[in-house]
Amino acid sequence: MIDKEKWDKTFNELPDEAPVTEPERQYYFINKCRQIVKKINEERGLPLSYKTVTFGCQMNARDSEKLVGILEQIGYVEAADEEKADFVIYNTCTVRENANQRVYGRLGQLGRIKKQNPHMRIALCGCMMQEPEVVEKLKKSYRFVDLIFGTHNIYKFAELLATRMESGRMVIDIWKDTDKIVEDLPVERKYSFKSGVNIMFGCNNFCSYCIVPYVRGRERSRDPKAIIREIERLVADGVVEVMLLGQNVNSYGKTLEHPITFAQLLKEIEKIDGLERIRFMTSHPKDLSDELIQVMAESKKICRHLHLPVQSGSTRILEKMNRRYTKESYLDLVGRIKKAIPDISLTTDIIVGFPGETEEDFQETLDVVRKVRYDSAFTFIYSKRTGTPAAVMEEQVPEVVVKDRFNRLLKEVQDISAETCAVHEGTVQTALVESLNDHDSSLVTGRLSNNLLVHFPGDASMIGKFYQVRLNECRGFYYIGEQIN
Ligand code: 5AD
Ligand code: SF4
Repeated sequence: MIDKEKWDKTFNELPDEAPVTEPERQYYFINKCRQIVKKINEERGLPLSYKTVTFGCQMNARDSEKLVGILEQIGYVEAADEEKADFVIYNTCTVRENANQRVYGRLGQLGRIKKQNPHMRIALCGCMMQEPEVVEKLKKSYRFVDLIFGTHNIYKFAELLATRMESGRMVIDIWKDTDKIVEDLPVERKYSFKSGVNIMFGCNNFCSYCIVPYVRGRERSRDPKAIIREIERLVADGVVEVMLLGQNVNSYGKTLEHPITFAQLLKEIEKIDGLERIRFMTSHPKDLSDELIQVMAESKKICRHLHLPVQSGSTRILEKMNRRYTKESYLDLVGRIKKAIPDISLTTDIIVGFPGETEEDFQETLDVVRKVRYDSAFTFIYSKRTGTPAAVMEEQVPEVVVKDRFNRLLKEVQDISAETCAVHEGTVQTALVESLNDHDSSLVTGRLSNNLLVHFPGDASMIGKFYQVRLNECRGFYYIGEQIN
């Protein structure tokens, strides 16, 4: 483990050469940046500020916490918004094309603001940067960007920033892939009482529509000991709920030197004293084992929620998607899960308009939605991602047809989730209070084990604690409740 105190002491007398081992090397560069930032802050009489803007999934959210951890060590303070910040970091997503367009739009605006602020820097990172065409476009048309890096080297953020500060040039560092996992760097959590924990990186599934395996690289699992140690430290620091993160958590551990299963990892995590709740995402149906179902059923800490992306209900489309399960095997799996864990809440992801999808295929998807009765579903219009096998498939579905199917699916999903949510009305459940209610500060917002939210009277002192709450009224996909003593 890094001796941070030692590194704090060396702040004023940095060695000439950076260490070659990690994470020591990064602590060296953090200190280097800190010296530069300290000087600027003293000259300006005002601390440099930062704002991170995160697009996409929970993986990105966790990566942003790592970036913020480094920035705060360097001496930046958080700004209220992007327009006021001296350093803006966009952590991008590229799962669907429209996310990319949003980034270009906002970047154009930032470029104009940068002209007014000589201290301003802009960094871009995340999945979109792993696409060579994107980097080319930035190099050509967005010369004002200071720093571009990808998903494999975010741990090097301080080193890249130091290079930018010293050279004054645009710094671009993108790796195609890596098998490296650097532990023990600073992290600044968004919530004091809950935290994401990466258990694996990358994906080997190559679903034919998906760009993730190309931008996040091959699957690599973290050492279970490092995961346990991280969670123990989080718990010592006040965390009661963890979300284990991976693109496909069900295949955790397969590539380790001493392979262990995801279910075994969960059993080890369950033993950690003081940890109250365990969540995880995302599960791939083809890898979800009976061992995992049993561990979930027996667990006191694993939450009653499973996100199980189906993508399509048509076996023919599932095959073209390279999902490696059928409609029947998916429904069979759901049946086994519900039998073993009757109070489980199931959620899913569904894509409409995959190339070649016919009305019959779409009806199969609706059929699965009706049979499973998801608590909620994220529905997506198929987006063509250059470089994936589906992008060159014939029979791309016309936009009007896709939109019509999307609307019909959405209605079905919403009607069913309102009904499944209403089932719990009147029950008393445990809620972890996460925040004050956004619209009414006399209410707090708590999360139930099944991932649904309940709003009930309370105050800020309740944040991060568990309460027994009666769910008085279901309002579609959340509840209004009251605390029970
Ligand atoms: N088009 C639309 N949706 C997609 N997803 C992944 N790739 C695409 C794409 N090309 C969806 C899947 C996945 C979720 C994270 O994003 O449903 O589960
Ligand atoms: Fe993409 Fe499929 Fe991997 Fe999920 S499992 S990240 S959808 S390739």
